[in-house]
Amino acid sequence: MKVTIEVNGSEVSDEVEDRTLLVHFIRDNAGLTATNVGCDTTSCGACTVLLDGESVKSCTILAAQADGHAVTTLEGLSGEGELHPVQRAFRDQHGLQCGFCTPGMIMASVSLLAHNPKPTREEVRHGLEGNLCRCTGYHNIVNAVVDASGQEVGR
Ligand code: FES
Ligand code: FES
Repeated sequence: MKVTIEVNGSEVSDEVEDRTLLVHFIRDNAGLTATNVGCDTTSCGACTVLLDGESVKSCTILAAQADGHAVTTLEGLSGEGELHPVQRAFRDQHGLQCGFCTPGMIMASVSLLAHNPKPTREEVRHGLEGNLCRCTGYHNIVNAVVDASGQEVGR
């Protein structure tokens, strides 16, 4: 079937199998590989993107379900040579180690902050509970989101 999705502001149109997952459309058809696949069973959140502005795990929906909709991936967050404030905060607060979870973690954080611009540390932890990180112990990730929100980072 033919699927057309606006990815980071550009229309991507391709023939795909009906069972193609959105994450595979993003990686294979749109050629954007920042979005990782950690499990493809809705467990890890590595594949998180924005669909019409809301965070979704892109391994949980079919490309066909996103037909006619707009997707934002990590590549679409920042301007030319500039980091998005959430990316900057993850860098400044050392919110990553291996980096595998980071694209999904950042997209989930962007969505969290859109809904709750000044979250408490507890709200950040709760908001990111669908995103797993095997490296950091989450502490610096929480710091990064608090920093990105413009609040003082408590330790
Ligand atoms: S790859 Fe989608 S939740 Fe793990
Ligand atoms: S930084 Fe390695 S999984 Fe999160």
